[in-house]
Amino acid sequence: MATRLARLADSAGGSITCLSHRPRLIAIAILAGRLPIAPAPPEIVLGDPMEIQFTQSRPQSARLVAQVTDKGKVPVGLDKAMTEGMEAARFKGNTGQVFDGFVDRDGQVFRLAIAGAGDAKDDARLANLEKAGAALTAKYQSIGNDELVLDLSDSNLSGEEAASVLFGLRLRNWRYDIYRTKMKDDQKVTLAKVTVVGAPEGTQAAWEDMAHVATGVEFTRELITEPANILYPETFVERCQQRFEGTGAELIVLDEAQMEKLGMGSLLGVGLGSDRESRILAIRWNGGAGDEAPTALVGKGVTFDSGGISIKPGPGMEDMKWDMGGAGAVAGAMLALVGRKAKANVVGVVGLVENMPDGKAQRPGDVVTSMSGQTIEVLNTDAEGRLVLADALHWTQEEFQPARIIDFATLTGAMIIALGNEFAGVFSNDDKLAKDLHDAGEITGDRNWRMPIDRAYDKLINSPIADMKNIGGRAAGSITAAQFLQRFISDDTPWAHVDVAGMVWSDKPGRTWNKGATGYGVRLVDRFVRDTLEK
Ligand code: BES
Ligand code: MN
Ligand code: ZN
Repeated sequence: MATRLARLADSAGGSITCLSHRPRLIAIAILAGRLPIAPAPPEIVLGDPMEIQFTQSRPQSARLVAQVTDKGKVPVGLDKAMTEGMEAARFKGNTGQVFDGFVDRDGQVFRLAIAGAGDAKDDARLANLEKAGAALTAKYQSIGNDELVLDLSDSNLSGEEAASVLFGLRLRNWRYDIYRTKMKDDQKVTLAKVTVVGAPEGTQAAWEDMAHVATGVEFTRELITEPANILYPETFVERCQQRFEGTGAELIVLDEAQMEKLGMGSLLGVGLGSDRESRILAIRWNGGAGDEAPTALVGKGVTFDSGGISIKPGPGMEDMKWDMGGAGAVAGAMLALVGRKAKANVVGVVGLVENMPDGKAQRPGDVVTSMSGQTIEVLNTDAEGRLVLADALHWTQEEFQPARIIDFATLTGAMIIALGNEFAGVFSNDDKLAKDLHDAGEITGDRNWRMPIDRAYDKLINSPIADMKNIGGRAAGSITAAQFLQRFISDDTPWAHVDVAGMVWSDKPGRTWNKGATGYGVRLVDRFVRDTLEK
């Protein structure tokens, strides 16, 4: 009966909710075909954020209730069927484990889910709680219920820990289905709302802050997920203009004519083969002291990378819609910082270009002059990210005199060969900056590992005809790319280049994401800003 009722609740889209005072009779009535099944819950529109609200007592309408438990601890007051079921299912409360059953409380039947959060003393406690939340949404986002009641009344979590569960719940619920017009009802996301009951003190305040970071992650994912016919330099700018409207951030846009005047031959050369105009967008947030030099975030925004005349092979080329992942991370990170009104001065700059083959495209062997005055022999038009960043980095230094620069770029396939999809590569001229980024990565899960840069690699990009060439040999491909960027950084500016080629897109579901765009970088920047700039 329990499972039949469950299926019924599912197919009715949780509609038993409104009839809940006599669920069993009603269920029988529905089974007998005597009562109309209520309409399905309203469809969730695109990446709409999950609504999270707080109440004191469990709502009468609750059809899906979840509790979080530590490893080896069975929540008190559970029905025998639940405790025996947990044992039979070998539920131990391990991180991300979920057990559910149906319980009848005073004639009200609902699904009760128990999510494991692992060992309470684990160093990665917050990450584990995120995983517990994420496991709940992964399991229940499409089962027909529009509301999940998270009952924390009996939990011994702190406010921050409870907010981490919510963070995981919300991040894992994100999907982008706007182009799927023929989805079956049971594929659609139905979960739209989480109601937290008995939240520990401080949960709401912690959550209000973290929700802005979730919004940033979701914005990054949206930008990365959009296909290149929809999201190109101009529309990237437009989306940012919409999202930052009224936030207090200042947006500066450079069009091609302005970039030409500034002498950005390196960036503009990449866009020559595209019908889409290139852009630079700067998003400026001054939340810190008036006299404090900003921290600059710079992103590679190649909205599609066909390789240009050095065209890429066909299979997998569609992945290159996310070659703007660095720019996406910068835009999302800025949205998070601006949203939570970070007490820091930060400017995000993205170089937006489409790399296409065409009669007007640049050729292998062409020599271009960058805004810095340095000349570049373009030996491979597919090594275009560094050409875009060369001018974006130089302009950023001229325009904002930043105290430090962190750039994010899906720069090299070699980065994936080196570190796979677990760590981004960090190349830096500053030990403290590299360490701060590493620490922020360990805390948030946006992990990164330092790679070397050195004069010995730098000479590999000397050119016989210009100041440098845009590729080294096959060896140390990610490092020579970083060396190229360093030639556009003034010596005394602390700088870190984060090669995120392996991080922005995932072929399988992960910690707090489904397969697809991960949102990598937003949490890294947010944590870096909290721990090093806002201290
Ligand atoms: N956007 C690519 C790097 C990339 C490849 C990112 C796969 C994510 C997944 C970059 O523009 C590129 O094409 N790099 C070349 C450099 C080479 C021509 C020196 C590469 O990695 O093959
Ligand atoms: Mn390329
Ligand atoms: Zn590229």
